[in-house]
Amino acid sequence: MADYEYLVEVNDLQMHFPVKTGFFKKTPLKAVDGVSFNIKPGETLGLVGESGCGKTTVGRTLLHLYEPTGGTFKFKGEEVTSKNIGRLRKEMQMVFQDPYSSLNPRMTVEDIIGEPLDVHHLYESKEDRREQVLHLMELVGLNAEHATRYAHEFSGGQRQRIGIARALAVHPSFIVCDEPVSALDVSIQAQVINMFEELQEKLGVTYLFIAHDLLVVHHISDRIAVMYLGRIVEIADADELNENPIHPYTLSLLSAVCVPDPIKAKANKRIILEGDVPSPLNMPSGCPFRTRCRYATEQCAQEAPSLTDRGNGHMVACWNK
Ligand SMILES: Nc1ncnc2c1ncn2[C@@H]1O[C@H](COP(=O)(O)OP(=O)(O)OP(=O)(O)O)[C@@H](O)[C@H]1O
Ligand SMILES: [Mg+2]
Repeated sequence: MADYEYLVEVNDLQMHFPVKTGFFKKTPLKAVDGVSFNIKPGETLGLVGESGCGKTTVGRTLLHLYEPTGGTFKFKGEEVTSKNIGRLRKEMQMVFQDPYSSLNPRMTVEDIIGEPLDVHHLYESKEDRREQVLHLMELVGLNAEHATRYAHEFSGGQRQRIGIARALAVHPSFIVCDEPVSALDVSIQAQVINMFEELQEKLGVTYLFIAHDLLVVHHISDRIAVMYLGRIVEIADADELNENPIHPYTLSLLSAVCVPDPIKAKANKRIILEGDVPSPLNMPSGCPFRTRCRYATEQCAQEAPSLTDRGNGHMVACWNK
């Protein structure tokens, strides 16, 4: 029995990039500014928010592709540091948004999927390597005849399957899926999402599943976290978040989603956000959302609200809701 409840425990994670803003001046760009969440083994946490709110940076920082500037990340109860990341890297993989640029077009499918096996010395003979690659291809629904073909010969959906097979090659227990279906045709998106779910059932992997679109993550997520300007503003079970959203920003995200039912659509008064997202180089004081929030008060400008539990683990960071 494992001696941890959560596979992934993130506490107050920070990623501040030093950005040149003048000849001698560097200003910290607060891409991720105090993010905390936990994920149980075999579960999926959806992470949503507008472009630029810091979703990819969260994923990359967890995998130490960026050295975090603050906070802690515990994986299976062990704090991940620059010292042990080498050993843990095999357990944590990332699947990228753009299946066109993330795979080398001049490599065969067999070599793309086999590369991580080479890097981690995970086979005994050429035949063994080939067998493992074919098994991975079967897992993600690719035909064995495709092994000798080149990545550029495939459609977006198939390329994403190749990317996933490659991530799975080292038997990771945690996969950061960074908008893996955003670049695909809508007709293909559901197939690829279903594949992620089937893989989770078969292999028991844990996902951090990043997307713009709440509908996409709702389907696959056990819990969903909503991000705005480097912070999580609301986090709850997926159904609870959709049925009882509390944070004004989550409400605006949900009202931007198309509702197929016309009666519901009428009841669902659209909340259009005014103004632009502030620059993360020049964050508003207090609550980062207050400049676009119709409920904002003086308190919101003074002090940033932290996440508080509104019952059953539904956490919201808002003074007024
Ligand atoms: N290496 C970097 N150096 C400096 N700033 C960066 C770096 N990477 C990201 N940023 C900035 O950090 C902020 C968050 O970027 P990030 O890519 O994490 O957002 P995102 O939510 O993934 O957006 P998208 O939905 O467009 O993928 C942005 O303001 C971005 O410009
Ligand atoms: Mg991104």
